[in-house]
Parts: sequence; structure tokens; C-alpha cells
Amino acid sequence: MRHLIDFGDLSRQEWDELYARADQIMNHPEAYLDTCHGKVSCNLFYEPSTRTNFSFQTAMLRLGGSVFGFADPKSSSVAKGESLKDTIKMVSGYADVIVMRTPWEGAAKAASLYSDVPVINAGDGGHMHPTQTTADLTTITRLRGSVDGLSVGLCGDLKNGRTVHSLIKALAKFKDIRFFLIAPRELAIPEYLRQFMREHDMPFVEVTGLEPVIPQLDVLYMTRIQRERFIDPLEYERNKGIYVLTRAKLARARENLLVMHPLPRVDEIAVDVDDDPRAVYFQQARFGMFARMSLLADLANQPRLTPAPVEIGHGPICHNPNCITQTEHYLPPLVKNNSGVDCCAFCDAPL
Ligand code: CP
Repeated sequence: MRHLIDFGDLSRQEWDELYARADQIMNHPEAYLDTCHGKVSCNLFYEPSTRTNFSFQTAMLRLGGSVFGFADPKSSSVAKGESLKDTIKMVSGYADVIVMRTPWEGAAKAASLYSDVPVINAGDGGHMHPTQTTADLTTITRLRGSVDGLSVGLCGDLKNGRTVHSLIKALAKFKDIRFFLIAPRELAIPEYLRQFMREHDMPFVEVTGLEPVIPQLDVLYMTRIQRERFIDPLEYERNKGIYVLTRAKLARARENLLVMHPLPRVDEIAVDVDDDPRAVYFQQARFGMFARMSLLADLANQPRLTPAPVEIGHGPICHNPNCITQTEHYLPPLVKNNSGVDCCAFCDAPL
């Protein structure tokens, strides 16, 4: 692994190694105090964050390294119009690893083309959030012993929720996973992920109601309706508050259900669920720090490598208005094949 852009880039063996190290770090944190001694992480957060930014910062500090960056691009020369490419060329000269979150889909992939050091995708718009997935899988493995064979309910904004997109990609690496995709029709899972699940023989059903399926679940992964991704505010108004998990609704759930949420929550999990032993979302956020320590222990210690020159593009290559190619016109016109369909290699939108 050189970058972490999409969880699908990770082999099952790489994940197993990553988890094993996270487990070791949790059990023996004192053995890892100098793992990143002298290493520097650059955290570029073009979008707000609490968990991802702070857990990456504390992960690096706990490994003996240090961190610089921004939590608001207005405090950098991005505000003067500096391109993503130039920003990455600069900071990859100063840092050993780059952690970046942006509102543009495919931005981390774009950054990886120009960086001398590993790039970690800390969330690219409504597309992917692979390090949240490392937190999610660590949580399930620590608390259930195994990820195989689970019935997983994904509930909420499955169209814009990047955490569920990455989680689906990741669960293809495990055996006998069944999905219940619980979303209003307007916020259903993108078609390319439906195709992905079919191609990987991952059974799924799409439903609009949460309560009828709760008794069948081993994991219930709640998500926020992602207000910041809606172009039409009325669409948000129609869908906000559509799912609210309460303690009463958990009455028919399995004793060993895991109620997960990438957080932040708005109103989709009532506060009275927090004290139910099945509610593990705050533990999940803490496990995320250890998973990110494991990731940094590997990536921040990789040698610098100047990337090969890339073709210069001349405009957007896809019609997704949120794709990074819409704003960074020099990006090469990269295409990838998803289940027989030509797609933008940055944001996965069909071309
Ligand atoms: N789960 C997650 O990405 O949270 P933040 O947006 O606070 O980083």
C-alpha cells in the first residue's frame, strides 16, 4: 500500500496486517511511542471534522511524530486560488504523509498523482471515507470477534453517505455478509455500488422502513442525512428526521446487536440509546484512533517517491458536478471500468 484512497485498494492481507497492528497498539501502546519519531503529518481539512482530524492528530502524536496543516482552507493560499496540485506539491515537500478531507469527490486520488509521500483519503465529498472503515472494521472485530457472516443494516442517507460506500467496498473482502439497505428512495445507494455488490455476490435488499428489519440485524449502522451534500434544500427538508432510532425500537433487536454510527449524529439516534450496551458509536470513534495509528505506522514510514509525470487534461472528464475534475482542469482524463461500465477514475461516476 502506498496511498489509501479507496478501501477497495487494500488487499485482505493488508487489512489483516493493519488490524493486527491496531490490536497490538491497543494492547501495548507503550511499544509504539517512537514508531513515527521524527515523522511529520500534514493534515489538510478543506471540510469540517472533529473525529477524523483529531484522531489522526492524536494518532501521530501518540506515535511520537508531529502534525501541521489547516482545518479551514481560508487560512491557507487556497484562498488566493492555489490549485490542489500546487498545494500538494508544496506540502509533500514538507511532510512524510498527507491526510486530506475535501468536499470534492476524487480529490484524494487527484492529490496522489502529484505527491512524493503517501496520501490518505480522510473523506472526499459524498464518495469515500476509507479510514472511517478502518474504525468500523476494528470495532466489529474487537467486539464481535469476526466480521464474517454478519447481517448488516445500513440506514439513512445511503446516496451521500461516504462512510457506507467505503464500508460496502470493505465488506466484499469478508465472507457471507448480507445487507439491508434502509433509505428513502431519493437517498438510495448509488447504482455503481449496487453493481459492485452483485458482482461480489453480496446479497442485499433495499427497504424504506427501519423497524421491520431491526430483529434480523447483527450490525445497525446509522447515518446522518448529509445536509451539506444537497443541491436542493427542499430535498433535505423532505428527508431530514426520517429515521430516528430510539430505545423503544431496540426492544426487538438481538441481544448482541452493534449499533454503530460514524458520527456526528443529528437526530437519527435518540440520546436514550446512548446508555444501551449495544450502542458502540463512542467506542467506535476511539477505535478509529488506534486504527489510524496502525495506518500511520506503515504509511508515514515509507520512503519518498517522486510520481511519474501525468498527462495534462483540458477540462472536466465527467458530468458529476461534485467531481474534482470540475474545478482542477489540468487533471488527466482517467477512466476506470466498474462492472463493465466506463467510469471516472476520480469519482466513480459513469461516463
Ligand atoms: N466520522 C467522521 O468522519 O467524523 P468527522 O466528520 O467529525 O471527522
